[in-house]
Amino acid sequence: MAEQKEATRPERFKAFSHVFDEGTLRAVFKVASTGQFEALLSPIKIGKEANLFTAKKGEDWRCVKVYRIASNFKKMFEYMAPDPRYAGLKRNKMSIINTWAIKEYRNLLRARENEVRVPTPYYVFKNVLVMEFIGHNEPSPQLNNKAPEDPEAFYEMLISNIRTLYQKARLVHADLSQFNVLNYDEKPVIIDFSHAIDLRYPNATQMLERDIRIMCDYFRKLGLKKDYKEEVGKVIAK
Ligand SMILES: Nc1ncnc2c1ncn2[C@@H]1O[C@H](COP(=O)(O)OP(=O)(O)OP(=O)(O)O)[C@@H](O)[C@H]1O
Ligand SMILES: [Mg+2]
Repeated sequence: MAEQKEATRPERFKAFSHVFDEGTLRAVFKVASTGQFEALLSPIKIGKEANLFTAKKGEDWRCVKVYRIASNFKKMFEYMAPDPRYAGLKRNKMSIINTWAIKEYRNLLRARENEVRVPTPYYVFKNVLVMEFIGHNEPSPQLNNKAPEDPEAFYEMLISNIRTLYQKARLVHADLSQFNVLNYDEKPVIIDFSHAIDLRYPNATQMLERDIRIMCDYFRKLGLKKDYKEEVGKVIAK
């Protein structure tokens, strides 16, 4: 039976069989069979929590994030347990990872619906998330790898996105840094929303302060002096 299943799997996924466990390979295949993408192209990043790939749907590029059965799932649980949206979450490894993927999908959707510049999420199934690809044939660089040509203009766009995320989407990113902002043609696109939290989360304000402090520290190195507390005030003020 297992052999038969293997035989029906298209060749194009065989190349990835060594990076995925059996269940993940099945999930990737299932998502592909819904028409989300025809093939995984190449790895973008083998990250701490996930592996990211480019994929193609016709002429369109997509980004596929596959959450790994990470060893830090206890930390994931602690992040999600106080969030009222995940009440009743089970302390089971696979269900935590799948919930983590759904959490990122929902957060991205909520941000996108409120016109925050994030990749549009297309689909989530188990630990596989399909989203818009940010780049032109190559993924756009992280801010860390490509500083903006006009730091002030870039910063203003970024803080305005953080404000919209807070005021309209009612979310705080909670893991913001120069690694989770892409420099897409000199405009910011915020990625990696798996840690994002609802404003009802007890530490939401502290997380927002931390996000803004980290970004202000980064921009200070580029010569832009911003008082992070003042910036937090601007984001929170109605
Ligand atoms: N939609 C996208 N389009 C293009 N590139 C992307 C996209 N999403 C993520 N990437 C690339 O993949 C990298 C890792 O993505 P992400 O931050 O979501 O995962 P992660 O598990 O947090 O990885 P890390 O170990 O870097 O923290 C990003 O820094 C970026 O370079
Ligand atoms: Mg990241």
